[in-house]
Amino acid sequence: MVAFEEIIRQIEQSVRSLVFNDPPRSLFEPVTYTLSLGGKRIRPALTLMAYNIYKEDIASAMDVALGLEVFHNFTLLHDDLMDEADVRRGKPTVHKAWNANTAILSGDAMLIASYRLMAKADKEHLKPVLDLFTQTALGICGGQQYDMEFETRNDVSEEEYIEMIRLKTAVLLACALKMGAILADASEEDAEHLYQFGIAIGLAFQLQDDLLDVYGDPKTFGKNIGGDILCDKKTFLLINAFKRSDAGQKEVLERWMGTSANPQEKIAAVTRIYDQLQLKRLSEEKIEAYFAEAMSHLEALKVEKRKLEVLKEVSHLLMNRKS
Ligand code: IPE
Ligand code: IPE
Ligand code: MG
Ligand code: MG
Ligand code: MG
Repeated sequence: MVAFEEIIRQIEQSVRSLVFNDPPRSLFEPVTYTLSLGGKRIRPALTLMAYNIYKEDIASAMDVALGLEVFHNFTLLHDDLMDEADVRRGKPTVHKAWNANTAILSGDAMLIASYRLMAKADKEHLKPVLDLFTQTALGICGGQQYDMEFETRNDVSEEEYIEMIRLKTAVLLACALKMGAILADASEEDAEHLYQFGIAIGLAFQLQDDLLDVYGDPKTFGKNIGGDILCDKKTFLLINAFKRSDAGQKEVLERWMGTSANPQEKIAAVTRIYDQLQLKRLSEEKIEAYFAEAMSHLEALKVEKRKLEVLKEVSHLLMNRKS
């Protein structure tokens, strides 16, 4: 088994070896900028860890793993533009450091580059790899569309929210894991359990992201706190705030929706209601439930238990993440 630190070291080395220095410089500079700012590299790590349950030569899965990381970084360029986010990984976002058109086109270039990496999969696995990747990428577009549409609705249900985050976030984590299983020729049953593990851990991951967006430390989180509140994002927190508030609190929430004047006041007012309704705790309970569901899928894999140690360790790390 390869240790998590070693997996991350190999991913970082491989990311650095990606070269984007064709002209024009202005197209590829933001790509290198984004990829060099780090991030957790959790998606490629999941691919390599899943692969490593079955096989030792993790380098064979590196191109596909990298493809997923480049794809993820592409989604961030477009997402930050759509969410009007100024800071990511503690640095100005591409549409801020350059401009909106650059975020669109450099993002497009990254999407295409991610397909080029995926297409390096060996002949035997190429079709399942491309099929899963394409289906995942289209799902994410759907999730992002729901996310945007929900901004202007105040009646989004918890079920709709879960479906939205399943699409925008969980399917990519699930895909990363299943890619590892496909490349390692795991049984279909195991591949499906790894996929479902990824869905459950991905839902927990996005719930956690929404929580950190309100309660995180900006220094470690690397994104501006309160961004979701400013965009009226229908997070688990805001949906439950609408559902559980009394008439006075509801009136305050409704008054703040659709306004962008006094951003700091808006963040403080909405956060106060989250605090009064103890929604952080409620969210943490939901996260714990998805975490338990995720673990049950890992336990169902037909492999020696010791093969699961690294994935379990990383799952726990993810649930306690600060960034
Ligand atoms: C950010 O993903 C987008 C979400 C799905 C919440 P990560 O939190 O994995 O971002 P990096 O790559 O570590 O910066
Ligand atoms: C991200 O959701 C989902 C994708 C990038 C596809 P968020 O909008 O919550 O991610 P952050 O918080 O900007 O990283
Ligand atoms: Mg965002
Ligand atoms: Mg978003
Ligand atoms: Mg977020």
